[in-house]
Order: sequence, then structure tokens, then C-alpha cells
Amino acid sequence: MPGQKISAPKGVSEYVPSRSRAFEFVRENLIAPAKRAGYQLIELPVFEDTELFTRGVGESTDVVSKEMYTFEDRGGRSITLRPEGTAGVMRAVIEHGLDRGQLPVKVWYSGQFFRAERPQAGRYRQFYQVGIEAIGLDDPAIDAEVIAIADAGFKAIGLSKYRLEITSLGDAESRAAHRVDLVEFISTLRLDEATAARALVNPLRLFDDKREEMRKAMADAPLLINYLNEASRLQFEQVQKYLNALGISYVLNPRMVRGLDYYTGTTFEFVHELLGAQSGIGGGGRYDGLMEQLGGQSLSGIGFGLGVDRALLAAEAEGVIGNDAFVSDLFIIPLGESARVKALTIAADLRTHGKSVEIAFGDRALKGAMKGADKSGAKCVVVLGESEISSGTVELKEMKSGHTSSVKIDSLLEAL
Ligand code: HAM
Repeated sequence: MPGQKISAPKGVSEYVPSRSRAFEFVRENLIAPAKRAGYQLIELPVFEDTELFTRGVGESTDVVSKEMYTFEDRGGRSITLRPEGTAGVMRAVIEHGLDRGQLPVKVWYSGQFFRAERPQAGRYRQFYQVGIEAIGLDDPAIDAEVIAIADAGFKAIGLSKYRLEITSLGDAESRAAHRVDLVEFISTLRLDEATAARALVNPLRLFDDKREEMRKAMADAPLLINYLNEASRLQFEQVQKYLNALGISYVLNPRMVRGLDYYTGTTFEFVHELLGAQSGIGGGGRYDGLMEQLGGQSLSGIGFGLGVDRALLAAEAEGVIGNDAFVSDLFIIPLGESARVKALTIAADLRTHGKSVEIAFGDRALKGAMKGADKSGAKCVVVLGESEISSGTVELKEMKSGHTSSVKIDSLLEAL
């Protein structure tokens, strides 16, 4: 109907000015350490063949069984909006034969992901992640480096009130040994039909059941960490040794269950202390069988996904986001037509030298334009009138301190 307002779909996160500035700061800084560690961009579609996720992520997971945005496209194919990034990366690595080249394949990504969850603070149906995957080498030093890169991302945006939880899900032999005892333990519990069905596909899922009676019931369940065979135990000890050497503090959480089925070996989660129910700001781990599961060769991999929305909420809760991220260096207020021409050329010139510069457009009075400069958050402001142009000198005002100094127009770049 014409004229009716249309709202965004329920539960999506979106960022408009001025908060988008803080969002951009968080997203770019979270992933910067990965780029400095040699990870390269991988840009993938936001929709994939549905089977990629049913096979890759696992049918026992909430993500696949309840939360996927799945639809039939015009050609009758079943398509799903990506609920996570790892399966797609693996699909692309196999499809492009990246695993036939130099190993490990190291890639980073950033973008939207989709899960039809019940929306609440910090939980959205469209949300943002940055992530990395290192595929093709099973070396505990990579596990430690991957964790360290995530940690460096959180530190880069100023977070400190979070903890890192780690555990190991061991190799196939360790998991099989544990599964026998766990299944036997579960057979002594009285479960409803849905829970029993879930346990049948992946009994570990029951550790993740938030219901009080289930938590009580699972309190004495056998823990996988006590079933690690020699090789898995040594690997996990190595990871901890490297983390200690890196000075990264962590706590062991042997009851951790990640929401995706592909994990093996080292798994981890970053939990923020000020975020309440949706406190997981990032997580990841090793996934030994995933590539084979998706039709590729048998290579191991490890990676993480960090929640940009939640990292932003965490940074706001800690009060560590400064207002000066991504603000302009200079705001020019031209008075009159010839000043406008001059302002355009000065701004264009400064921008080619890497400065960010805004101009007050339109015929607003000086007072209104100053307000605009103030609102923009720009670091400095100059007013450009006839006398400034003829003298070739402007008064450069630093907004925060209010301090002004006379600067030659030709020397603005240095002054900034
Ligand atoms: P994940 O733990 O499902 O892992 O998601 C990673 C992060 O995304 C979470 O810690 C959380 O911060 C954020 N997140 C997840 N769901 C939502 C939501 N509905 N709203 C807001 N934020 C959300 C993965 O997705 C794995 N692919 C990570 C990985 C990469 N593992 C190995 N490689």
C-alpha cells in the first residue's frame, strides 16, 4: 500500500549512523590480527545448497534442525541462507582445489549469517561474524595461534572483561570410547521423545540442555576429557603449553558443548562477563572429519567465528569504544561561492593524502554549520571566507581542546 511505512524484519541487527561507526571500528579491529598473521580474504555466497549444512553442521544441532532459513529457489533447488561460515569455506576449498596447494590454507571472512532464533538482546536472526579457518595441518601450535589471534582481536577493541574457556573433544578413538559410557549413562535417564532422538544422533548435545532437571541429571555424566587417549591428551597439553608461553589465560571447561557437530580436538569459547544470557562473543575449534564429510580429502582444520554484534555490545558495556573511531580529520565551513570552490579543492587534495575531510554544504549560517561540524565529531574545523582566501591563512580549531592556531592553507596537511 503506498505511503505505509515498512519496518525491518523481526530480529535483524542493522547499524546506521552514528552507531555504525563503532560497529565498523569493532568489525575491522577484530579481524586485523588475522590479516597480520597471513590469513587471506575468502568471499563466499550468503546462500548455499541446503545439503552443505545438513551434512556439514549436523542434523542433531539446533542450528540445522530449527534455525535454518531454507527455501526453494525458482529452479526447485533447496537453498539455505548460511547459518555459519566453516562449511562454506570447506566447500570452496574443495571446489577450488586450494587443498592441493600450500598447506595450511589460511583464510578470513567477514559478513552476515542467518539463524531463525528467538530474538533477544545479543541474539539476532541476521548477525555478523568475522572468522578464520586454517586447513590442512594438525599441529597444536596452530591451535594456540588461532586462539591467540581471536584473543588479540578482542584486546584490539579494548575488551578485558571476558574469559577464554577451552577443552578437547579428542580424536575419533577417544570419542568412541566415551560415547559407549555416555550412551549407557543416558539410558538410565528418563527422557522425552525429542531429547532421546537428539541423544541418539549426538549424545554430547545433552550437556548443552539448559533445563534445570536435565542439568541435574547430567551432573554425574562421564566427561569426554577423561577419555582422551594418549595422543589426544598430549596434543591438548601442547596447546596449553603454547597458550601459557603466549601469556593467554584460560579456564578448562570439560562440559563445553559447541552448537555445531563438526568439532573434534581443541575447542574453545570466549565468554563476556557483562552480557548476560548471550555472553558467547566468539568460539571455534578443530574439525577433523569435516572435509571428508563434504566429499574432500581427509584433512584437519581449525578456526573461529567471532560475533561482531556481541563484541560491540561488550565494548559498549565496558565503555571502551571511543567516539573518535572513523571520524573526519577536518571539517571545512566555506562562506560564499569562491570559498566553496576553494573548499572543494582543498578537501580533494587532503583526501588524496589520506586525510578524511568533510565540507559544510548548502547556505547554512555559520552557527548552523558549526553545529554540523560538532555533530560530525570531526577532530578539527576551519572557517573559509574571503579574508582567509586572500591571506592564504586559516584558523585551525581543534574541537576537543578548543585550541586554535593560524595555519597556511598550503600547510594544512602537515598541521593535521
Ligand atoms: P558459533 O559459536 O555458532 O560458531 O558462532 C560464533 C559466534 O557468533 C558466537 O560466539 C556469537 O558471538 C555469534 N553468534 C552466533 N549466533 C548469533 C546470533 N543469533 N546473534 C548474534 N550473534 C551470534 C560458528 O559459527 C563456527 N562456524 C565458528 C568456527 C569457525 N568454528 C571453526 N571455525
